[in-house]
Amino acid sequence: MIDVTDKVVSLAKRRGFVFPGSELYSGIGGIYDLGPLGVELANNIKKVWWKNIVSQRDNVVGLDSAILMNRQVWHTSGHVESFADPLAECKNCHSRFREDSLPKSGNCPACGKNDWTESRMFNLMFKTHIGPVEEEGSETFLRPETAQGIFVNFGNVVDTMRVKLPFGIAQIGKGFRNEITTGNFLFRVREFEMMELEYFTFPKTAEKDFEYWQKERMDWHLSLGLKKENLRFREHESDERAHYATRSVDIEYNWPFMDWGELEGIANRTDYDLKQHAKESGKDLSYFDEETKKKIVPYVIEPSIGVGRMMLALLIDAYTEEKAPTAEKGESETRTVLKLHPNLSPVKVAVLPLVKDQKLIKIAKEIHKDLKQEWETMYDEVGTIGRRYRRQDEIGTPYCLTVDFDSLKDNSVTIRDRDSMKQERVKIKDLQEYLRAKLS
Ligand code: GAP
Repeated sequence: MIDVTDKVVSLAKRRGFVFPGSELYSGIGGIYDLGPLGVELANNIKKVWWKNIVSQRDNVVGLDSAILMNRQVWHTSGHVESFADPLAECKNCHSRFREDSLPKSGNCPACGKNDWTESRMFNLMFKTHIGPVEEEGSETFLRPETAQGIFVNFGNVVDTMRVKLPFGIAQIGKGFRNEITTGNFLFRVREFEMMELEYFTFPKTAEKDFEYWQKERMDWHLSLGLKKENLRFREHESDERAHYATRSVDIEYNWPFMDWGELEGIANRTDYDLKQHAKESGKDLSYFDEETKKKIVPYVIEPSIGVGRMMLALLIDAYTEEKAPTAEKGESETRTVLKLHPNLSPVKVAVLPLVKDQKLIKIAKEIHKDLKQEWETMYDEVGTIGRRYRRQDEIGTPYCLTVDFDSLKDNSVTIRDRDSMKQERVKIKDLQEYLRAKLS
């Protein structure tokens, strides 16, 4: 049986969601490009995250820090020293793998032999150089997390934004990791966007805030339609936590290709990062608490998730094959539907003239032009109406709007709901209002 992941990967390529990076030149390992529908889906994911984390809260502000930072940042943060995975090399075929990803048998996934070199730690940061001279002094790294850009701007935000503890700084941006083993499509890649919140709080309430964010984040996933049975929390053992964390809980997803695995990480980073940066920079990164009139270094609770990993979970969860009636009475066929939350769907409305008749096309194009001002809208006049519905189902368009010959008389169109396939007549003049009520 074909795994749902294979079907999602195929749909993603075929319908313009995700393309292999540099495909023209045989690709590049662990890098993907977003196609026209993928970029809309990713933008929608980022939009709902930002709305939930920043816009709808009084005590969270945003930031967009640079990808390239002074190399000292990465020494101070501990990434140069500790951001590494154990690498093992097969003595027979020289393939390299993350030691902890090898099969239980210990046999090489490439050649089947079981003869390995001593494992060594491999740092996951990509090195680059600033300026025209490639020497040690000009070396820096592509950031492996956006969080450090937040920590080094902590003082700037406190000085400029009148924030009061507890408060958060959120950021969405690219991260880069030279993963030893990539794979499972968007699950583990080398270049990806991250959505990170650093929530600064009092040390004594950090544990309570941790619980708060755990619940908030799980609720967010559920509100976007991820299935409850496919989500769970998992507390990290002490030996698997990142070097900066005293507590980590993952929101795991039941991936079809690997069972349960991390979708989002929530960590208690304590005062580790601010203290380290204060020590190495010589700058005061404490916060003056007006109530106690004392300086404190805040603790940090950090929920962090990759946009691509979220996209993959959403596509897998939304992918549905079901029986649907055809135009022929009593006949049915299998339809593929992406049952994405309407707020996330790349295209919100498809406008379809029933047949290629100039009178219908004219009205449909006018409606399309109007709706485009507010929503991502697609116009399609090619093929039978049944085929066009299927094409929209497959990309998750929640509403298809058909202009037929009755439209010429009653100034109304038929709106078809993606999931129920129910149809209703709506006056053309009421379309905006109707759709506004359905889509937010
Ligand atoms: N600042 C915290 C941090 O970087 P992480 O657990 O290493 O924590 C956060 O990464 C999230 O980024 C993960 O939960 C996952 O969603 C995503 N992520 C991490 N590595 C990834 C990779 N190689 N490819 C795709 N997404 C990745």
